[in-house]
Amino acid sequence: MELIDGKKISDDIKKEIAATVEQMVAEGKKRPHLAAILVGHDGGSETYVAHKVKACEQCGFQSTLIRYEDSVTEEELLETIKKLNADETLDGFIVQLPLPKHISEQKIIEAIDYRKDVDGFHPINVGRMSIGLPCFLSATPAGIIELLDRYNIDTKGANCVVLGRSNIVGKPVATLMMQKHQPGDATVTVCHSATKNIKEICAQADIIIAALGKPGFVTADMVKPGAVIIDVGTTRVPDATRKSGFRLRGDVDFENVASKCSYITPVPGGVGPMTIVSLMKNTLLAARHEVYE
Ligand code: GUN
Repeated sequence: MELIDGKKISDDIKKEIAATVEQMVAEGKKRPHLAAILVGHDGGSETYVAHKVKACEQCGFQSTLIRYEDSVTEEELLETIKKLNADETLDGFIVQLPLPKHISEQKIIEAIDYRKDVDGFHPINVGRMSIGLPCFLSATPAGIIELLDRYNIDTKGANCVVLGRSNIVGKPVATLMMQKHQPGDATVTVCHSATKNIKEICAQADIIIAALGKPGFVTADMVKPGAVIIDVGTTRVPDATRKSGFRLRGDVDFENVASKCSYITPVPGGVGPMTIVSLMKNTLLAARHEVYE
């Protein structure tokens, strides 16, 4: 079994990005600039956004954090998005999800100029991805594909089972895994809450991508010997031995599954850091106008 070291790969990519940025600056170009809108004080979202801001520093980007309380109205957020769309100093921006119930996430996503949508959530980017056109790929699926690529994992013709059908991970990663080139070219099955016999389907899989947010869901009896396991789960579970009072747990029962598979991503240190670095890659692409214009 080989551990897929997302932390190391993401550190390598951040160094590559930082070198490119210094080169751009030496040529008289401006630093890439990413803004993030964070609404409320959800612990997970606070942590993710703090990591994104730190990654910007490591890559030599300018970053701007815009915070709102939970009480912000949809109109206020839409107004801010309009300003960010028009702000020529800004290459891309994200609105951290989830948003409070009184705000339509879809309305917010669709208000973002797709050319600045470095999260790749806008329907134009999602549509372009699904037919293989240049676009901003959503960060977690892009990070997973990058890991499979950097570890030279052969996905052609593989049985790939995706657990979860979210717009952010399950659907786009299923689309990318079936695209007609490596990494991809897999036979993809998407399982979700209405799927019958998930265990049997998983047991046939050469690659399992678990993105359902249920800690420890994938158990050893669901894993074929030699399978590749990609764990997207990051649920906070209570842990009295930690100062924070919690630890992150993936969707895979790592302790019992690891010895059965050929490759596995740990939680933390697997997919998570790759998600952030994919956002940095998209921001660099936006700054260099390499996708649009
Ligand atoms: N919430 C969970 N993952 C993401 C992400 O990749 N981007 C944004 N904006 N919100 C998220």
